[in-house]
Amino acid sequence: MPDQTEGQGTPGQRPVPLPVGSPIWTSFFTVAPLILVGTIEPDGEEHNLAPKHMAMPLGWSNHFCFVCSPRHATQQNAQRTGEFTVSFPRPEQIVETSLAAGPRESDGEKPSLEAIPVFAASEVEGVLVRDAYLWLECRLEQIVEGFGENTLIIGEVVAAAVDERSMRVYEGDDAELLAESPLLAYLSPGRFAEISESNSFPFHTDFRL
Ligand SMILES: Cc1cc2nc3c(=O)[nH]c(=O)nc-3n(C[C@H](O)[C@H](O)[C@H](O)COP(=O)(O)O)c2cc1C
Repeated sequence: MPDQTEGQGTPGQRPVPLPVGSPIWTSFFTVAPLILVGTIEPDGEEHNLAPKHMAMPLGWSNHFCFVCSPRHATQQNAQRTGEFTVSFPRPEQIVETSLAAGPRESDGEKPSLEAIPVFAASEVEGVLVRDAYLWLECRLEQIVEGFGENTLIIGEVVAAAVDERSMRVYEGDDAELLAESPLLAYLSPGRFAEISESNSFPFHTDFRL
């Protein structure tokens, strides 16, 4: 049995109960990635980009997922085309990343996207963001509903590329790689950080995945 009174945590800590009748996620910070999801609009020509922080690889095979909503053009586009792209922006692209969540005009246009340079994807119909450090092209696999107003969009990665400066190499110095090519982190809600300092994880002896 742990040596502590139930609900009081360790000495010096005071757990504050959070009412779970409403969302708890703005009462503290958590670390998340920040990506740009690319899709093709209904006219079949224009592209859309939208930032997502609830996003990650799904398992150890080449699947990627992100949380979305049926209200977002991103989901409607991915559902219709069966494809989407993912770009991982660098910290210096934080303003571009925010611009991707700009408002739409009455005709449905999102003019802020014009400020985000892109290039064509190779395996799927779509675009990737220039100067990002990692690019994924995905075929839609599944949209899982049932999380309040949110959905989980899952894709199979059918093409991927990493900027040479961000690519891990055999016996390379990972700490130096991240110092020279820092990562962008989203500190939800509403803050971001550039990660350039890192340490090796202290794996247990004989740890196996
Ligand atoms: C920093 C940031 C992170 C976001 N993360 C998510 C997310 O994880 N999931 C989501 O559904 N929306 C997220 N959004 C909101 C949408 O991506 C955003 O409202 C977008 O403009 C929707 O555009 P669309 O209708 O063109 O798809 C985020 C917005 C910002 C600014």
